[in-house]
Formats: sequence, structure tokens, C-alpha cells
Amino acid sequence: MASKKNINAGMVGMGMIFDETYRPFFESAHKDGLYDRQFGDVSVNLSAVATRTGSRAEKYQAIAGGKVHPFESFAGDDAVDQMLQSGIDLACVATPDDRHYEASKKVLEAGKHLIVEKPSVLTMQQLDELVTLAEEKNVLAKVVYHKLLDPDHKKLRTLYADNILSHVNSGYCTLLEPKLISGSQFSEWITGRNPGTYVAVHYIKLIDFSFPGKLKTVMATGQRGIVAEKDSNTWDSCQLRMIYEYDSGREAAFDIHTSWVTPDNFPGYVEQEVQFRFDNGLWNGHSRKRGVECTVEDKTPITMKNSINNHYNGSFLEPWGERSQRGYGIEVIERFAREVSYVEHGGEDSERANRLNEMNQLDYNNLSADRQTVAVVQALEAILEKQAQGIPDTVVRINDSNGGLVLYTPGSSDHEVLYDGEV
Ligand SMILES: NC(=O)c1ccc[n+]([C@@H]2O[C@H](COP(=O)([O-])OP(=O)(O)OC[C@H]3O[C@@H](n4cnc5c(N)ncnc54)[C@H](O)[C@@H]3O)[C@@H](O)[C@H]2O)c1
Repeated sequence: MASKKNINAGMVGMGMIFDETYRPFFESAHKDGLYDRQFGDVSVNLSAVATRTGSRAEKYQAIAGGKVHPFESFAGDDAVDQMLQSGIDLACVATPDDRHYEASKKVLEAGKHLIVEKPSVLTMQQLDELVTLAEEKNVLAKVVYHKLLDPDHKKLRTLYADNILSHVNSGYCTLLEPKLISGSQFSEWITGRNPGTYVAVHYIKLIDFSFPGKLKTVMATGQRGIVAEKDSNTWDSCQLRMIYEYDSGREAAFDIHTSWVTPDNFPGYVEQEVQFRFDNGLWNGHSRKRGVECTVEDKTPITMKNSINNHYNGSFLEPWGERSQRGYGIEVIERFAREVSYVEHGGEDSERANRLNEMNQLDYNNLSADRQTVAVVQALEAILEKQAQGIPDTVVRINDSNGGLVLYTPGSSDHEVLYDGEV
């Protein structure tokens, strides 16, 4: 029996991440609905999509059959505006990084709940605007950081929160993407972009959320010459350092190395490794080497990879015969749909403001809690841009006497205020 409670969803951008996480979520929601004792049985429908050309939407419609709710497809310059007028309750924004802000702003202005891919936006100024808009319109504004839902990272955070691992001193993370990403997948929008904003941001958030402290300093450097000219502002790889200060007055430093020029015949989809050092312990994690290594003649490591991350997103034949696609990459989208269902259907209308407030307290995905992560992204982008202009080794300090985000150049007494409010 169909539920009388509906949440209609819109989708902006239907690229790789739509296919990996949103599509399987909407297909499973269409089949099984969403149930919770607090909000009952809710139908979550993908009802409209907005893309640049409409071709990916058409392709999906052609193969989806009855697997997903029938949806309207809008294309062209005013696609997002049309989608927003089509009677949706929430919108997911999965456009390239530097196009999140524009679409997200429209979503919130239209009074729709928002979930945007990481990094939410590229500047503190944009973040301030979106957070203010969400407050004015009484809707949720959330961002996807699925690594926070990885069971290994949940365990790390739990051990730290419970003080079994005490005071983090330093750490490193690395995430290397294949050349395929920079060479073909993102070739349309890669000019002027870097792999740090795209993937280091996962670890920036993991550190910021798991080891809560005050961000003090951001440093970075990068390499060029494979994806584009060596003097351009398009980056092959970059290295980021963040320094945090904790309530005790003690500091910690974290290095995050990223690239999108790893050979395509690398045995895993991506290389992901972390090490965190504490006063009383050490955490070593390797998301690719979690245990499975599989070789298939004529397939691995090109069309299929040797080491498979079955936790993020996998297709399975379940023991009970069903085919499924699941993992924490999909769970994170479902959580957001549950949060919206709770706000809209979790009780009396007169209590909606309380439910909204409750969901706004969830720092793992709320835009208002994304401040230090966005600050690092803005600093990284500014430092790389200076390097591309021939001014290497600049440093960004956070909340010092000159402003919230302030860029300093070695050998110069000048400084540049990137953001004057408090981060
Ligand atoms: N959570 C994750 O681990 C993860 C993984 C990959 C990508 N992402 C994020 O998802 C976003 C999209 O990445 P992707 O890999 O799907 O990229 P993609 O290039 O495969 O797809 C981008 C899509 O956006 C559409 N698009 C571009 N400009 C648009 C506009 N102005 N209006 C409407 N649609 C527009 C494109 O046509 C395409 O369908 C990025 O922000 C990326 O950081 C997240």
C-alpha cells in the first residue's frame, strides 16, 4: 500500500557520484520506502532532475525501467529554476566543486531542503550566505562527507571521544585518484582545479570532526605538468598541512597528500591511507587494504580492481537472493532523507521548528558546522593561486589580529585578508 507521506526530491547534476550513490539510494527508496517509528512510512521520490544537456537524464530514464520513480528532466541554463518550481521538497547538488554555490543558493532561496556534495562551497563568504538563507527559510542545509560514516573512522572517533586514545599530536592522510579522473572523467571542468579541494577535503573534515580543536594555520604546495602546463593553475597533486590548537593549549599538525595522476593500472580504485599519533597510541588505517585481494584474468587491474572497498559502495547478491547496492556512501544520503522526513513528518506542524532545530544540531553534516573545513579549502585555493602567479610558500593564518583568514607572503610585510569575519 502506497504511503500518504511524500518527500519529493530534485537532483542537480547526474555525473559519476549520482550513479554511485544517489541513484542506488533513490532506487532502493522507490522499492522499499523509508520507515522510522518517529515519522512512519514515507515515500521518497526522485521527481525532477536538472542537468546541463539532459543527455545523462535521458540515458538513465531509458534504462531505469520501473526501478525509480518517474522524474521530470530539465536541461539548459534555467534547468535548476525549473526543477525548483516542479514541487520538490529537497534538492541534492552534485555539480562540479566550483558550481555548488550557485545551485545551492537557488535551492535555499526557493525554500527547499539542501544536500550538497563535498566541499560544500569554496569560500567562507559563500558559506555565510547559505547558512543565513537556510535559517531565514527554515530548511535544512547539509553537506555530504561520507567518510565520517566509514566504520573504521567511526571507531577512530569513538576511541578519541572516550579518551582511550588521548590528545592527537600529528598525522598524515593520503588519497590518490587515477589519471582517468583528471584525464577524462573531469576533463570538462578541470581547468584551474586541484585534487586537494576535491579529495583532501574528506580528510580535512575527518580530522576537524574527529579531533575537535581550533584551526590555526594552513600551508600547501602543489605540482603541475601532467594534467596541464607546468605554469598553469591546474594541479596534478598537492600537499596540505593544517595546524590545530586544542583547549589544553597544545598543538597538532596534519599533512594531507592528494593526486589525480596515479597510473590507471593501479590495483585499487583509489589509494587511501591514514596514520594518527596520540599521546598514548597510534592509529594506522588503510582503506584499500582492508582484506580483499582478487585477481581475474583479462579484467584486473583495468576494468576491475584487485583491492575492492566493499564498505563504501558495493553491488552484492544478498544471501536471501536479492541484488543490492549498499555501503556508507549510500547510507549518508539516506540519513539526510531521514532527517528531512523527520522534520516534515515526525509530528505535529506546531512542533516543526523544534524538529528542524534538532536536525540542525547534527554537526557531521550541517553547513553551519563546516566553517573550519571551508576555511582550509579557501586557504588552499588561495595558496595554490599565489604559487601559480609565481609567489610560492605563502601561509594562511586563522583568526589572528588581522582577520579570520589572512594570507602572508614570506619576505613581505603585507598581508591579504581572505575573510575578515571570525572563522
Ligand atoms: N562523496 C564523494 O566521495 C564524491 C565522489 C565523487 C564526486 N563527488 C563530488 O560530487 C560532485 C560531482 O562530481 P562527479 O564526480 O559526479 O562529477 P561529474 O563530472 O561526473 O558530474 C558532474 C555533473 O554535473 C553536471 N553539471 C555541471 N554543471 C552543471 C550546472 N551548472 N547545472 C547542472 N548540472 C551541471 C554535469 O553535466 C554532470 O552531470 C563534485 O563536487 C565532487 O566533489 C563526491
